[in-house]
Amino acid sequence: MNNYLSWEQTLFKDREIFEPGYVPEAFLYREKQLKRIGHAIAPGIKGEQPQNMVCIGPPGTGKTTSIRKIIDEAEQISTSELIIAYVNCRFTPTRFSVLSDIYRKISGIEPPGTGIALKKFYEKIAETLAAKNKSLFAVLDDADFLLLRGIYCNVANDILRLYENRPVNTGLCTVHSTQRPPLDDGLGSLFMPVVVKFPSYSWDETFNILSTRAKLGFYSDVVNKEIIEKITQYTVPKGDVRFGIDLLKRSAFHAELRASVAVTPSDVDAALVEASKDRLSRYLKVFSETERALLDLASEMVTVQAGELFSAFHERTHKGYTTFHKALNSLMRAKLIDANIENRGKNGRMRVIVVKQPTSGSES
Ligand SMILES: Nc1ncnc2c1ncn2[C@@H]1O[C@H](COP(=O)(O)OP(=O)(O)O)[C@@H](O)[C@H]1O
Ligand SMILES: [Mg+2]
Repeated sequence: MNNYLSWEQTLFKDREIFEPGYVPEAFLYREKQLKRIGHAIAPGIKGEQPQNMVCIGPPGTGKTTSIRKIIDEAEQISTSELIIAYVNCRFTPTRFSVLSDIYRKISGIEPPGTGIALKKFYEKIAETLAAKNKSLFAVLDDADFLLLRGIYCNVANDILRLYENRPVNTGLCTVHSTQRPPLDDGLGSLFMPVVVKFPSYSWDETFNILSTRAKLGFYSDVVNKEIIEKITQYTVPKGDVRFGIDLLKRSAFHAELRASVAVTPSDVDAALVEASKDRLSRYLKVFSETERALLDLASEMVTVQAGELFSAFHERTHKGYTTFHKALNSLMRAKLIDANIENRGKNGRMRVIVVKQPTSGSES
């Protein structure tokens, strides 16, 4: 048998399967979350007030996919009294731009330019919604960006207070990966969301998700069990299944470059270096300068006690302990660094910070 590919041949049955926007039909392990999102939205379908909600989980745990699935389902209901406005906050740097996205969805027409006063625009949104006699459920995906830009509370207030303008029923859902929304103060009794958590997938879950994706996207025998196991092994510590899907795709590209009909472990290793670099630069965009400075320091020091790390951080940034602690927690939630408790001699327990992903992008 000829084991080599001619140039026009490909290992991919369908490349779309590995693209970020692809919504998988087989979406396992998120039954509980889907139910809770559906439950929050359901009153809105009847024109009543949807429940406010916050979705929290590390990147690549199925948050956006879950929301998309429920939106698709809700929009199939012809008698629905609900308008769902989905906003990706990565692309909305201002309060005005978030409101513009919502207005576009409610009215079906282009929003006025930035010439209009915010207050006037705001009234226009309430007016349009009231005229349509519909409820609104606004989903602010990747709302970490609003927190980092310092406009989260303003934007949430804008949406939660629409009813003060006109008798409209609104619900708000914000989705977070690396930051925590201020649930106790800031928005107070106005928000009180249901919190839906998205934990990282286990080893078996990750393996199954990747196997299913590979079966859909590649011709048979392109990847075997050993390859998926290897990719799973690299994916699980990241807690991000998107990383594994990206590795599958990149590994197959490498195999194609060698004109091979199957992916080998060395293809995966080559793909790993690129995928790690890409992932890091993508995620670092979410972090503040302070957080990035702390991550850089932790990477330089590799393994360090929390106290030493703070001293170095203070020296470099002149920032205090509260800032340090906040930045540390934020990086830990994103699984970029880890804090372990270890027993060390008579001083007892100490906190040791280990960088899970060095900034150089290469991994052992
Ligand atoms: N349970 C799952 N089954 C199949 N694919 C999944 C599952 N969870 C996540 N994915 C895939 O992982 C990638 C990231 O999912 P996404 O919903 O965008 O995560 P998040 O919004 O939490 O970052 C997408 O390609 C998605 O299709
Ligand atoms: Mg997402």
